[in-house]
Order: sequence, then structure tokens, then C-alpha cells
Amino acid sequence: MSELFRPNIARLRGYVPGEQPREQGYIKLNTNENPYPPSPLVLARLRTACAADLRLYPDPDARALRRRLGEVFAIAPQQVMVGNGSDELLNVIIRSFACAGDKIAYPHPTYGYYKPLIDIQGAEAVPVEFGGDFALPAGLAVPGARITFLANPNAPSGTLVPYAEVAALCAQVDGVLVVDEAYVDFSQGGCIQLIEQHPNAIVVRTMSKSFSLAGMRIGFAFAPAALIAGMWKVKDHYNLNRLSLVAAEAALEDIDVMRTNAARVCATRTRLCVGLKNLGFYLWDSQANFVLAKLGARWAGRTAAELYAQLKERRILVRYFATPPRLADCLRISVGTDAEIDALLAVLKELSPV
Ligand SMILES: Cc1ncc(COP(=O)(O)O)c(C=O)c1O
Repeated sequence: MSELFRPNIARLRGYVPGEQPREQGYIKLNTNENPYPPSPLVLARLRTACAADLRLYPDPDARALRRRLGEVFAIAPQQVMVGNGSDELLNVIIRSFACAGDKIAYPHPTYGYYKPLIDIQGAEAVPVEFGGDFALPAGLAVPGARITFLANPNAPSGTLVPYAEVAALCAQVDGVLVVDEAYVDFSQGGCIQLIEQHPNAIVVRTMSKSFSLAGMRIGFAFAPAALIAGMWKVKDHYNLNRLSLVAAEAALEDIDVMRTNAARVCATRTRLCVGLKNLGFYLWDSQANFVLAKLGARWAGRTAAELYAQLKERRILVRYFATPPRLADCLRISVGTDAEIDALLAVLKELSPV
């Protein structure tokens, strides 16, 4: 059957998302979801919207939502595009700017979905290795690259590249620079202002993490109006459904709930980091709602794969990446509630060799 496919699709390994367990009862620290519910206003508006005009198509231009985003982020609605999660926007960006065979650069390791999207397009992935500290790698401005992706904060390290370095990179790259800010609300960073100064800057955000709306699939792209106008031709016309539009507008109207939840997550992240360090893990400085924890000397003879499995047996899910090799002795742990993190630390203590 594989000969029926385009050769690059037949060869494709495909992205494997973090596990969503079918049974209840897991402490789920594997997909960087928010442990707190979204604003009650979102749920109230959704209930009303369910009783309204679902037989009609949604607004293909998402005018009300883009207007509100413009107000919140002090930019024009023409500089905004919304998507079915930021994953859809990453897809639209690749289809808009890269032909088959074109180079697309990104630091590595990073968000695992860039590579399959590049492969689907038949473009050439150019990963540029991060150093041990996950600082911006020299050489990321690959000559001729049509797109450069930078997840900032990065996944799975959680590390943040300062604004001045991102701006310098944007001036240096040949094509567009896409700053993927999925986790920015848990950090002190933010690069939206890039789009006012750089004609090739695109900043992508999501409501999946800080706004607790992963299930609604809502993402935003901010870019100079000329780039948005071109990307518009590529997106599906009704890419955000009526309920997602309603949820997004309500979440922005009540944005303080997101800020309060993000602050709680950041406070728990500090507790998680202290606990993990005490248990002999090495951590990078995370500015996201997860941490990357590497097994230190105390865990000699033990593997992250083993630890992942032992946690899973005890109904705690974290993320383990078998590849690339430099992540093979690491676990990525999402920040849950204080109680969930206490439970995790207690189990790790029990499993700890000393
Ligand atoms: C860096 C990064 N970008 C984008 C996404 C996709 O988010 P969304 O749920 O908006 O599609 C993720 C999801 O985990 C992510 O880690």
C-alpha cells in the first residue's frame, strides 16, 4: 500500500503525542496541561453558545476575537490570525513559506512536531544542536533557510532566550523567524513587539497551556499584516469553530484568571525544583510549566526509562523521550497542583537509591 503515498509520507514516522490515559486516576504530568480550570466565564459562555446557532458556520475571519486580541496585545487585528491550536498555525506557516526542498532550521532538541511538519511538506529539516546549557546556538541563522523556528521558552528544556538575542537572530535570518511562545505566560519573556520592527517576524501563542483550554484547540499567530494576509490564503476558512471562538473571547475578557493560575503554577514549579534537586536531579532553569530533570550521580545504574515505567505503575505519568540520546537520561515533568507534586516527590523519594 505504501507505494500509493507520496514517498515522503510513506517514509514518515509521524508525531507521537503524549499519552492520554483511557482510565481515570492518573496524576497526569506528561503533556504540560494546566492543572487548574479555565475562567468560569468561559464555561458560562459555552453553555449559552451551545444553545445558539451551531447550525451556522463560524465567522471565517474571527473578527471579534482578533479585535479583542488586538486590544489585549496592543496591535492591529490585521496583524493577527487564529488557528485550531498553535499546531495548525505552525502547519500554515510551513505551507506558506517553504517549498519542497527548502531549508527549515530549528535548534535541537525542541518541540517534536516541527520535524514531521517539515517532512510532510518535503522541505529539508536543518536541526542546529543546542549546547549543554540550551543557550541560543551559534549558527542557527542557516544561510538560505526559508523558516527558522525558535520555541521560547524551549520545550523540553523550559529555557528562555532573552529578547535582545531573539531580535538579533530575527535580523540575521534569511527567511521568516517563528518564535513559538506556547509557554511564555509562565516566563518573564515575550516577543510580540518584534513584529513591529521586523518584517519577517511571526510570534505564535496558544490557549492550551496558561489559559487551561487545551481541549478547545485555540492558537494565535502575530505577524506584520503583509505576512498574515499571505498566510490567510493557506488556512482552512472555518478553522476555528463557534465554540472555540466563544471560549477564546471569554478567556481574554477574564484574563486575570489565567494570570492567577500561571502564578500558582510558577510557585509550584519552584517547590518542584527544590524537591527534585534534593532528590539528586540536575535541572535546567525552566520558565515554562514543566521542568527537564536529568538523573544525577545518586541515580547511577538507574535509567530514566525505568523510572518513567515505575512512576507509571504508581499511576503517575511523566514524559520520557527515548531519542535524542541526550534526553535519554531525562524526564520532563509538567507542573501540577501542589498536591500532585507532593505525591510525585514522595514516590520519587521511595524509588530513590539512597
Ligand atoms: C512548543 C510548543 N508549541 C506548540 C505546541 C502546540 O500547542 P497547541 O495545543 O496550541 O496546538 C506545543 C504543545 O505541546 C508546544 O510544546
